[in-house]
Amino acid sequence: MEGKHIVVGIGSGIAAYKIPELIRLLRKRGAEVKVTTTRHALEFVTDLTLQTLSGHKVYSDVFAAINDHSTEHISLPDWADAMIVAPATHDVICKMAAGIADDALTTTLAAMRKPVVIAPAMNDKMYAGEALQEALATLASRQNVEVLDCAEGFLACGTNGRGRMQEPETLLEAVEAALTPKDWLGRRVLVTAGPTHEAIDPVRYISNHSSGKMGIALAQALLRHGADVMLVMGPTAEQWTPPVYHPAMQGVGSLRRMDVVSAQEMYEAATAAWKEADTAILAAAVADMTPATVADHKMKKGQDLTDTIALRESPDIARFMGVDKRADQCLVGFALETDNEQQNALKKLEAKHLDFIVMNSLREQGAGFGTDTNSVTIYTKEGESHRLPLASKSDIAEGILSAIHG
Ligand code: C5P
Repeated sequence: MEGKHIVVGIGSGIAAYKIPELIRLLRKRGAEVKVTTTRHALEFVTDLTLQTLSGHKVYSDVFAAINDHSTEHISLPDWADAMIVAPATHDVICKMAAGIADDALTTTLAAMRKPVVIAPAMNDKMYAGEALQEALATLASRQNVEVLDCAEGFLACGTNGRGRMQEPETLLEAVEAALTPKDWLGRRVLVTAGPTHEAIDPVRYISNHSSGKMGIALAQALLRHGADVMLVMGPTAEQWTPPVYHPAMQGVGSLRRMDVVSAQEMYEAATAAWKEADTAILAAAVADMTPATVADHKMKKGQDLTDTIALRESPDIARFMGVDKRADQCLVGFALETDNEQQNALKKLEAKHLDFIVMNSLREQGAGFGTDTNSVTIYTKEGESHRLPLASKSDIAEGILSAIHG
């Protein structure tokens, strides 16, 4: 998002109160933001708030003397790399579909040829309305428009239903996706992520420090590039709500998430998904050992716990998948080593029949478990290597995708 120009178009709906947060998130990611609104949006969020957070005057009145140019509705689309309409109200959506342009926001939209994200928000009965759904389908068929669905939940009118705007964090991801080439469209990619928990008794388990952040960053990047992602996720504290698109939308990625706990559960979910996948990226830190038996009661302090807990090896998912690999499938593993890093990584590449192995460097500061950054070296089975120096896990995910894209 660094240096990108984003126009935020605000409709007159109560969800407008969340847009200052979206502007802040966009700017935190390095984007420049300008705001345009309908006539009444400023009843919900103040001009001063929007101007302060965006750092620019707000374009809300076509005839106001403060406008930089007399044709702001043309200069804004020229300036923009992308636009998001949030909240996109019933009125704005139907006007946009019909080509009506009668205020600052809709005249700007009329001249907009760059990617536009539509984030609807309204009462659930309005959202289910025929005219509105027809308008959304029309917009979804336009080449530069990506239409989000409404989320379900509590609505400002006091009811529960489908009508909520997706949250600012998710809208940020949707804008990033709209700016990203869909060069993974139609590819089905399995990602394993996070740790596994191996139960000792109903209370305790064996695990490791994996946070799941790298796997989530990979799933996010794949989704941005248009892939159909199957994410098999171990227990994680990481929150991720990906953008959900309107059912009429084509040409965008999709996500199926399967949450699992143990190595055995991850094995079952991953090997089933592998049959449908053309690529698998195994970023999960699967526990190597699992208790041979799980006590059905909480083991008591003392004898029970100081006795040796018998362990057995958990299934090596990567190895099973490597053996089963079809000629058209690409298998990518991860390695995290504390010593003889390169040698051990290359051994695993061969033993597990991987096409690529991504070696994490635990020694480097800022890389490895729980951090938001990483640095890796990617080895190919042909003996090549690419080093990706310390960067955000999101940038590292992009680097991994370009290295394995072929
Ligand atoms: O744990 P190890 O270093 O062998 O992990 C190398 C690769 O194998 C990783 O991609 C990891 O996700 C995968 N793996 C697995 N099942 C296991 C152990 C590791 O899929 N039981």
